[in-house]
Parts: sequence; structure tokens; C-alpha cells
Amino acid sequence: MKGLMDWIDQRIPFSNSMKLHVTQYPAPKNFNFWYLMGSLALVVLVNQIVTGIWLTMSYNPSAEGAFASVEYIMRDVEYGWLLRYMHSTGASFFFLVVYLHMFRGLMYGSYQKPRELLWLFGMLIFLVLMAEAFMGYMLPWGQMSYWGAQVIISLFGAIPYVGDALTTWIRGDYVISGATLNRFFALHVIALPLVLVILVFLHLIALHEVGSNNPDGIDIKKPKGSVAEEDKAKFEFHERYAKKYDIVDAIPFHPYYTVKDLVGLAGFLILFAIVIFYLPTMGGYFLEPPNFEAADPMRTPAHIAPVWYFTPFYAILRAVPIKLLGVILMFAAIVLLFLMPWIDRGKVRSIRYRSGLHKANLTQFVISFVILGYLGVMPAEGIYTLMAQIFTFLYFAFFAFLWFYSKNEKTKPLPERLTK
Ligand code: HEM
Repeated sequence: MKGLMDWIDQRIPFSNSMKLHVTQYPAPKNFNFWYLMGSLALVVLVNQIVTGIWLTMSYNPSAEGAFASVEYIMRDVEYGWLLRYMHSTGASFFFLVVYLHMFRGLMYGSYQKPRELLWLFGMLIFLVLMAEAFMGYMLPWGQMSYWGAQVIISLFGAIPYVGDALTTWIRGDYVISGATLNRFFALHVIALPLVLVILVFLHLIALHEVGSNNPDGIDIKKPKGSVAEEDKAKFEFHERYAKKYDIVDAIPFHPYYTVKDLVGLAGFLILFAIVIFYLPTMGGYFLEPPNFEAADPMRTPAHIAPVWYFTPFYAILRAVPIKLLGVILMFAAIVLLFLMPWIDRGKVRSIRYRSGLHKANLTQFVISFVILGYLGVMPAEGIYTLMAQIFTFLYFAFFAFLWFYSKNEKTKPLPERLTK
């Protein structure tokens, strides 16, 4: 084995990269539950790619054959039902994990300097993930696939002057048709996954360049020579880290976090299996009932609602009576998240040491987001529309308030070293 490793290492820097980025990566010693989500997101990404490849082997990307081929996968292909449910449940779990992952970033200020680029790569991942899920949902060519795509693609029609031409260009036809399905298939199975994998790679490179943040939001890297010898981390880290800084309160990623992540993964897989085997449609939230009927361009479903992970943004879209304004607000809701590193002018990262005002603001943001998610599946009428308008206002108020109070926020004193 040693001979083989030497042979490989003389040709590509395998052992060195493993030490640098996995085994001897200095991780803050106080990672909690929230820090599991990144590795879970990686696992779900692999699950989506692998089950997706196998689904593609039996799927037929044509308007005539798509729906029937999905039925064929569910009924006749060996374990086809399992592959499909792993993929469809995987999509919902992907968003669940990614939303928790993003919330952690907001809570501990992981977007603040020097992690702005890491955050931007994360937001790009989020954007591509939404496009990927949207296109994937079209592939079974059920009623919701068809009408959901109809609603979303027609949004681009609200753009002045170029709107109509743009929607025709996206569809590849004057209506949603087999041509649209074909191109969405191409984008869903190869183009977007490729972009996603590249972005995740860049996300991790950016993370390892600046190092992980942690629940206290303070640095574990101190200027060289500023820390007494006995206070330095006692572990073996890759020399590249030790050369630049004095490292305190860190532990090597392996075995500490490889083991911790494995325990989290076991819990996650139990939950994942329960949903796959007992609640694969999650009462219509993961796979909607109209999508078990073949697409029919002549029959519009009574309510068109996207899958749960899109509903907060969908509620913002519908809250405004003017279509173009609704579209602008929906995109603004995402753009503002991109801009978090600059909207938050605070110097303290973690919510633990920030003001009561900040805690209240972030809490109201999360509550508004969840309520908007609920409103997105309800019909856009009466009290629901009014509520959607109120919570859309609160969603945007989060960013506006933050920008104002963060400059001179009254924060608690930061500890010198990690607290736990
Ligand atoms: C496919 C989706 C994603 C994957 C596979 C992924 C993977 C990871 C991993 C493995 C980590 C290190 C472990 C951890 O801190 O949890 C991480 C950290 C981080 N991710 Fe992601 N990520 C994804 C999406 C996102 C998104 C959408 C955002 C937000 C915009 C984001 C923002 C961050 C931030 C800020 C950190 C550093 C957190 C800290 O050190 O406190 N990530 N990511």
C-alpha cells in the first residue's frame, strides 16, 4: 500500500491534499448541530446524482412518452419506485438541509468578512438548485409539471419589450411542448448538475482558504507569535496552516468531525428512510396529487401551487397585484440575500453576542419566511392575500432594519477564546 501511495503522490498531490483539506483541516472545537448541514448537503447531492443517473436509464424525455415512462419506472423497473422516491424525497430534503445551512450562516454571521465570497458561491448554488428543481419537476409531465412551468415561464412575459420574445425563446415553442421538455431534460441531467458540482467545489475551496466560522463567531487563527506556546492547539495540523498563524481552540477534522458527521448522517438517513418508505408524497407537499395525472393542456388544475420549497417566494410574487412588480419583488427577495455581507454592517458575527434587536429581527424574518411558505400553498384571495402583503413587508423590513441598526449596534463583549 505504501509503495502504491508513494507512486500516486509522486504524480498527483493526493496525500498532501487529503491532509490539507480533510484529515488535518483545523476545525473550531465548538461545532454544533448546525454545522452538520454542509456535509449532509454533500451526501444529498451525491444521492441526487446517483439516483438521477439510474432514473435516466428508463425515463423517456418526450411529451408522448414521459408520463408513461415514469409509471413504468414506478411499476415495472426493479426497485424503480425506490429510485424515484429517493430522488423526489431527496429534492425536498436537499432544500430542507440547505435552508437550515443558510439559517446557520445568518445566525452566526458566516457571510461577514472574510467569508463574503464563500457566501456568494453559496447563494449561486441556491439559485442553480432552484432552477434544477424546477426543471426536474417538469420531467414527469404531470398536470402540475405542465401548469407549474406555464405559470413560472410566463413570469418572464411581464418584462417590458422583450418579455414575449423571451418566453418563446425559453419554451422553444409558442406553448409549453415537447421541445420545452427536451431542453429542460438536457439542462436538468447534465448542464445544471455540472454547474452545481463546480460551484460546490469552489464553495469548499473558499471555505478552506479562510477557515470555518463557528457558533461564537470569533477567530481561531491568531497572528503568528501572539499566543503563548502552551495555549496553542496541541494537535497536528498541516504545516501550511501552522506556518501562517497560531491556531487555538481547533481540532483536526479527522477523526473528530468525521465521526461526529457520521452520527448525524445516521440520524438523517433514518429520517430519510421513514419518509421514503412511509410518506413518499408527504401528504402532497413533496409530490402533489395533480402530478399523478398526465399533463393536459386543455384542463387547468383548480389550484396551481409549486412544491413547498418555492412557496415563500411564490407568495411574495402573488402578494402584489401588478405582475411586473411581483416578479421584481420575488427576485429582489433573493438578491437581498446575496447582498447580506454588505447589508449587515455589524462588527460582531454571532447572534450570541449581538443585540436583542438583532435577535428579534432575525426571528421575525424566519417566522415571516415560514408563514409566506404556508401562504404560497393557499389560494391567493381575501385574508390570505392581505397576510401575504404583511409578511412580504416584514421579509423586506428585515434587511432594511439590519442595514440601519447594524452600524452602531450595541453588542456584548466578545470572548477571547471559544466558550465551549
Ligand atoms: C449543494 C449545496 C451546498 C453544499 C453541498 C454546501 C457544503 C458546505 C460544506 C461541506 C460546508 C462546511 C461545513 C459546514 O459549515 O456546514 C459549508 C459551509 C458554508 N456554507 Fe455551504 N453548501 C451548500 C450550499 C450553501 C448555501 C446555499 C449557502 C448560503 C448562501 C451556503 C453558505 C455556507 C457558509 C456561509 C459556510 C461557512 C459556514 C461557517 O463556517 O460558519 N452554503 N457548505
